Amino acid sequence: MKKCLEVVERDRRVISQASRLAYYPLVVSRAEGAKIWDADGNEYIDFLSGAAVTNIGHCHPEVVRAIESQAKRFIHNTLGYSYYELPVILAERLASLTPGGFRKRVAFGLSGSDANDGAIKLARSATGRQKIISYLGSYHGTTYGALTLSAASPHMKRGLGPLLPEVYHIPYPDCYRCPFGLEHPGCGLHCLGYMKELLRLLIPPDEVAALVLEPIQGDAGVIVPPQDFWVEVKRICEEHGILFIDEEVQTGFCRTGRWFAIEHWGVEPDAVLVAKPIASGLPMSAIISRSELMERWSAPAHLFTTEANPVSCAAAIATLEVMERERLHERAERVGGYVMKRLEELMGRFELIGEVRGRGLLIGVDLVKDRRTREPARAEALKVCWRAWERGLVMISFGRFGNVLRIAPPLTIGNEELERALGILEESIDDVTKGRVPDTVLREMSAW
Ligand SMILES: Cc1ncc(COP(=O)(O)O)c(C=O)c1O
Repeated sequence: MKKCLEVVERDRRVISQASRLAYYPLVVSRAEGAKIWDADGNEYIDFLSGAAVTNIGHCHPEVVRAIESQAKRFIHNTLGYSYYELPVILAERLASLTPGGFRKRVAFGLSGSDANDGAIKLARSATGRQKIISYLGSYHGTTYGALTLSAASPHMKRGLGPLLPEVYHIPYPDCYRCPFGLEHPGCGLHCLGYMKELLRLLIPPDEVAALVLEPIQGDAGVIVPPQDFWVEVKRICEEHGILFIDEEVQTGFCRTGRWFAIEHWGVEPDAVLVAKPIASGLPMSAIISRSELMERWSAPAHLFTTEANPVSCAAAIATLEVMERERLHERAERVGGYVMKRLEELMGRFELIGEVRGRGLLIGVDLVKDRRTREPARAEALKVCWRAWERGLVMISFGRFGNVLRIAPPLTIGNEELERALGILEESIDDVTKGRVPDTVLREMSAW
């Protein structure tokens, strides 16, 4: 661990720690497929995918080839001032892959955060309304608009106000830890009733431009709404002319067993926001929306000098080709189903596991101190991650209470790697339940 510890030490002196949620001193020196090697030559299996980014695996050869060949042609062109074909090819692909049988246009950016800011700008300019509704527990990023939409932790906003005005937050349908203390389906979707009350008593619906939603909340700890939920929300939005903005930055591109997670509910959004896995890790985001909305936006409302970077576009086109050809949405669903089954078996062995939930290969393992009270077991989750890392598995914990193990490997992970990783996970949980991971490791972990 000599080299790793030395780099971490230097990092702590020179890099802003405002972007770091520390887990363990992993210093990446190489990655391929579902494997990572650290600076001291240790090998790991990847259950994190660089935060749901490397959906087709690290350094996929086709993506590497596309990057190399484009870098030799031209590395930069500002989309604002002249044309090139790559963003056009990519936009045509994105328009046909995203749900919604209507004419679409695409606006590019660089990060999931700026896609969220763009969505606010688009919604306000297209509707002439100002108010935006978002969900408690959501994470949308850290630019001012995205930060305002987010409600994942009060710490991320501390001292940064005033944030954007006219953004309202409502409870997300979390059926394991219901904010109203109710049980589904007996609750009759009380959280929907809350939204209706808000529109009746506090916010005039005809002043609301958009609802921005994660179809499955990711960083909140993989919260999957009940089956008819988004259908009903869409109906309410349509009734009042509120745009339904589907934020798929984490859930998009095959991760949940569909190309886009909203397809699990069969709802057509007015806009889809994507980033993370689109270019296998090169910076890129996109807003894909109805043409008639985009046509009401005036330039340069959403222009970035390095948007639709040619190398990122080439990487994105290659990434989408791999996803389509290998039908990775189907693979995610199949492999995810198997992983869920294995994790549910572990519930029989470990009381520490309160719930296993997710879709495809976006899975959360919710650790609890007591299955009856569902009290979150954050320290235990951190210790499991630490021990897993020591044994060769990269995994983090997240969630509203920081107690959910995040299972999100590359969708291309091989069977043997998967078995090894699940074995490490089981051993690590066993170690923690037997008190074999000391409290001292927690000192190093700022974490979620
Ligand atoms: C759902 C969701 N939206 C937006 C973001 C922000 O993306 P970025 O970090 O690329 O700005 C994230 C990042 O974790 C996310 O999970």
